[in-house]
Amino acid sequence: MSFGQMPIANGFLNPEQYKDEYFYEMATAVCDKCLMFQLIEQPTPEKMFHENYAFFSQTSKHMCDHFQSFAEKVIAQYQLNKDSFVVELGSNDGIMLKHFANQSIPHLGVEPSANVARVASERGINTLCTFFNEQCANEIKDKYGLADAIMAANVMCHIPDLNSLAAGVATLLKPNGVLIFQDPYLADVLEKTSYDQIYDEHVFLFCLHSVQEAFKPHGLELIESEHFNVHGGSMRYTLAKTGAYPVQESVNQYLNKEKAINIHSPDTYLGFKSQCEKSKTNLMEILNRLKDDNAVVAGYGATSKSTTIINYCGITADHLDYISDTTPIKQNKFSPGAHIPIKPYESFTKQYPNYALLFAWNHKNEIMAKEQDFKSSGGQWIEFIPHAIISEG
Ligand code: TYD
Repeated sequence: MSFGQMPIANGFLNPEQYKDEYFYEMATAVCDKCLMFQLIEQPTPEKMFHENYAFFSQTSKHMCDHFQSFAEKVIAQYQLNKDSFVVELGSNDGIMLKHFANQSIPHLGVEPSANVARVASERGINTLCTFFNEQCANEIKDKYGLADAIMAANVMCHIPDLNSLAAGVATLLKPNGVLIFQDPYLADVLEKTSYDQIYDEHVFLFCLHSVQEAFKPHGLELIESEHFNVHGGSMRYTLAKTGAYPVQESVNQYLNKEKAINIHSPDTYLGFKSQCEKSKTNLMEILNRLKDDNAVVAGYGATSKSTTIINYCGITADHLDYISDTTPIKQNKFSPGAHIPIKPYESFTKQYPNYALLFAWNHKNEIMAKEQDFKSSGGQWIEFIPHAIISEG
């Protein structure tokens, strides 16, 4: 399915950069054998992860709590201590590794975006600023030894050379080491029509079946799966060297669920395509109507995901007065592709718009709890997951 020409999802820019803005055709395909759902063309990693990478993990309280419990669970389940060694791929600003550092557990973050890697280093997190692959795994092994746990959160689905990555993981893990990673779950995307999970950075949308198939050739087996509501529905996969641990019941349970939603059938993806088109039509009907009424409409959260919604649906600066976002590096720039102004959160609270389009829908509970004043001022929400509606929140 093609979503048309897309800019870089986190490519917030200034007007002088408009003429050089990069676009690619964002189209997806699914392998009928291994069920890998993926982008057909992906911009080079250097176009996405660099000195000005706009994504900082510690922007949401809920996500900070989530990473703390992720770390605590791994430490307890695999009895990690000061003699262990853990590696996190795409460690960003150190949001998760700090919990290992606090317990003096030897750790290493591998983070290719220099600005966020620097923030982590300044916070005392041992960080290597590079892309992880087989060669990098060998270098880490030579310098630090084998790892008890390799973790990644919202990272694995960003790495196009999954084979080199899986080979690197197999090289770096101890015989009883574990790989634990989580990413947005394909089944959630299909069920909620959350097609905004598809953008340049997400080269893959995994399901259990595709994860098993991708890691099997490298001697790694899926031993546990756990579902979370973060990022609009994520699956956490635990893999280990084949035979090192018993396979838990959760693996069968989710494989059965995937069968039940016909994740293997081409019809499922044709249905998804028409749901995306319907979602676009319904959202634009609302936004065009509000534009005709001269309503003030703001986007809430300049998420990476919003780049897909904005550019696929054809939302322009005529529909949205601005997008409010709490991340300093995005503020006072313009959104990728449609060039809608990004304003600090204070612009939203200073003078509430009539409507707010909830781009950061994955943080809905947290946002609704803190935006009671917007609601009591008469403000209304526009949501598009799972259906486009005007709501009370
Ligand atoms: P995120 O959830 O990481 O989504 P994506 O992976 O699609 O980028 O991004 C959330 C964005 O929304 C981030 O830029 C911060 C912003 N945000 C707000 O402006 N206000 C809020 O209350 C929250 C929770 C997030």
